[in-house]
Amino acid sequence: MLKILTDIKLSSFNTFKTGGNARFFCNVETESELIEAVSFAKENNLKFYVIGNGSNILIGEDDFLGLVIKLSIKGIEIESRDKDITILSSCAGENFDDLITFSIDNNLFGIENLWNIPGTVGASVVQNIGAYGVEIKDFIFSVEGIDINNFKKFNLKKENCDFEYRESVFKKNKNLIITKVFLKLNNSFFSNIEYISLKEYFSKQAVQIGKGELKVGDIIKAVEEIRRNKLPDWRVLGTAGSFFKNPIITEEKYTELLLKYPDLPKYNAKIGFVKIPLGFVIDKMCGLKNFRLGQVGLYEKQSLIIVNYGGAKFSEINSFANIIEEKVFEKIKIKIEREVENIF
Ligand code: EPU
Repeated sequence: MLKILTDIKLSSFNTFKTGGNARFFCNVETESELIEAVSFAKENNLKFYVIGNGSNILIGEDDFLGLVIKLSIKGIEIESRDKDITILSSCAGENFDDLITFSIDNNLFGIENLWNIPGTVGASVVQNIGAYGVEIKDFIFSVEGIDINNFKKFNLKKENCDFEYRESVFKKNKNLIITKVFLKLNNSFFSNIEYISLKEYFSKQAVQIGKGELKVGDIIKAVEEIRRNKLPDWRVLGTAGSFFKNPIITEEKYTELLLKYPDLPKYNAKIGFVKIPLGFVIDKMCGLKNFRLGQVGLYEKQSLIIVNYGGAKFSEINSFANIIEEKVFEKIKIKIEREVENIF
């Protein structure tokens, strides 16, 4: 029987550490508990939100008069194995690092570059997480869940999930709640160190690690170190990682910006477009490195990250983000988009 708690402080359930109380709150560990929770909300005409580890959301400071459902369904299994590929399933409430650890323990590879991203497997798919040259979509086979409009189960093949940079059908349609993810992993390890910061890390280590001798453990160690040096520890400081998306702009716009900022880096995007690092734009082009207002500021080592230095409320962080949006627009006439979702 599902336990529904009342008046729960939400600041303990998100890495930005903001939010008032939730009038109702429950932790769901099975699909039937999820259905029970949603039914409770519908029967009582309550708004509801499903959260994972709360690592990519910004919660409002007013009390939320509805139901917050923390999705904690656990379980990882090997479904089928052929010569080169293995299909593995992970329930949505697993921690992403636990999924990587399970994969490596079972000699399954591909997602190791995504090490140390705080969050659940379900949320990682909603968001199509990406880091160091890998996006989770590259390894998705299908996604299972419940459509809470009619309580019917769905199983969407990867092609139908509309994955794009930090986007998916699940981000647009909040009625589709993910319960299980099927991943297609490699039985052999191939290192993927094309991303600039990994390339640089390994070129410095060249003496210790000969060519072709990289092991999966080396990637884990490298990503851990790079992240430690660049990102704040969410256990210590309030943060949700990159607050904005890196803008995707036309090649013409990029050429125009290069005239004034010849060092502006670019990453590949769809034909005719490039992706530019907003951290560089905010830091070097807008001159906002270390910009801070009260208890909210840009992280000293990465200007794409907003930090709650202690006690900042939703409204302060939200207005701070608005200011960054305005300053970037003033400077380069680009409307930036948020990666972090406002809730309530
Ligand atoms: N840069 C600056 N100043 C800064 C920050 C960055 O000049 O303050 C420059 C860097 O020197 C580099 C470039 O901007 O030339 C890109 O920086 P970085 O490699 O740190 O990556 P990013 O584009 O800021 C993205 C993801 C991260 C992911 C890293 C590593 C987005 C919005 N962010 O960051 O994802 O970990 O690449 O792959 O795409 C997240 O989504 O929460 C997240 C942390």
